[in-house]
Amino acid sequence: MAAPRGGVDLTDLDAWERRVPYEEFERLRREAPIEWFDEQPPNHGFWSVHRYADIVEISRDTARFSSASGVSFEEPTAEDMAARRTVIDMDPPAHTKLRKVLAPSFTPRAVAVYEHFVRELTNVALDQALPLGEFDFVDLVAKQVPIRVLGRIMGLPGDQLDELIELGDKLIANTDPEITDVVWGRDDTEAYRRFPFRSPYGKELWDLGRELVKDRLRHPSDDLLSTLLQAEIDGDRLTEVDLDNFFSILVIAGNETTRIALAQGVLAFCDHPAQWDLLRSDSALLNSATEEVLRWSCPTHFMRRTVTEDVTLRDVSMKEGDKLVLWYVSGNRDEEVFSDPERFDVARTPNPHLSFGRGGPHMCLGAHLARLEVRVVLDELCRRVARFELAGAPARTRTNFTNGLKRLPVAVGAA
Ligand code: HEM
Repeated sequence: MAAPRGGVDLTDLDAWERRVPYEEFERLRREAPIEWFDEQPPNHGFWSVHRYADIVEISRDTARFSSASGVSFEEPTAEDMAARRTVIDMDPPAHTKLRKVLAPSFTPRAVAVYEHFVRELTNVALDQALPLGEFDFVDLVAKQVPIRVLGRIMGLPGDQLDELIELGDKLIANTDPEITDVVWGRDDTEAYRRFPFRSPYGKELWDLGRELVKDRLRHPSDDLLSTLLQAEIDGDRLTEVDLDNFFSILVIAGNETTRIALAQGVLAFCDHPAQWDLLRSDSALLNSATEEVLRWSCPTHFMRRTVTEDVTLRDVSMKEGDKLVLWYVSGNRDEEVFSDPERFDVARTPNPHLSFGRGGPHMCLGAHLARLEVRVVLDELCRRVARFELAGAPARTRTNFTNGLKRLPVAVGAA
């Protein structure tokens, strides 16, 4: 394995489980803004992109930097992709048409109606957790809110939400043996390559979605699943493959990401108690604090693209078919864009972070919803918690894809 000028192997998941390599990214931004990294076979290596400006430029240029071979390190065949392609793995114009089906459900106005619901959910969770004094913030709070909001939007039955959380976790954290028994990169996953995240649990998620679709065909409603069933693209209804994949991406993209932002946000306030005091003293900081929590936590560390023609960027020559990894986690701390980027600052503004992507057509569809959830949870925490402290070591997920926390033991002082 080549560990080039940054002195780091970005594919070493055990290292990511211990910590995010912020210092190494700082060196890479300075010394090797775009650098080649080898990978273990069967993978072929990747161009690693560290600077903010390059990430935005590449995201914008969908003709030369395609999403059609997937957005992870995995190297699926065209047939694999045909079976499991979601909206995130498409290029315009097909991407534009499919995204239009979902977009109206996620505008700022459409998601604003959930504010009251998010507040209620948050308070139900806090009513349970806060009297304990010490508890796992991931389990009792961060995990509880996003899936229930998604359940309401999509029309998912309440008694299946825990199962959906578990399946979603087994997929997005498919490299962590504590979370899944079929570990990508370690076990033989050949039999599952046509399923989401190359996992048998991807098939389980589809099956669950299909049952719900059948039910909704019999009992149409005004939820997102019913909208998807009515939708047409160029006069045709969505195919079963489209529906399977819409279901899986919504459950996966809309759940753990927001949970991570909430949990990493609270961890940041444990580490920076003065910032918690500042936020509590001035509710006008709620929006900037939300953006700073998103920048700091960077729930999704990267997205991948694939080069469609030979291209040169920053004097680096890339070949058609090469894989590129856009490290949002590095761009979020790029000193050319953020002053004093290693400072957690709830008053930071402007804050054009990359946590939802930026510049291209794939920018997170759920961004307004995620922002709403983070803002409302912070608001309620401000009202009810005077002080956070760590009550044990946080447990990180073994992955370089997300900044996941499995456990965050906290002690709280009531307000
Ligand atoms: C803090 C929470 C979240 C983070 C950090 C996040 C992050 C991202 C990122 C980085 C992308 C890809 C951007 C790109 O390639 O340019 C993305 C795409 C997407 N996200 Fe989110 N996301 C979050 C919450 C949500 C929620 C709540 C939903 C929906 C309920 C959602 C649905 C999607 C979808 C459908 C896409 C694909 C969009 C497309 O390809 O056009 N996300 N998200």
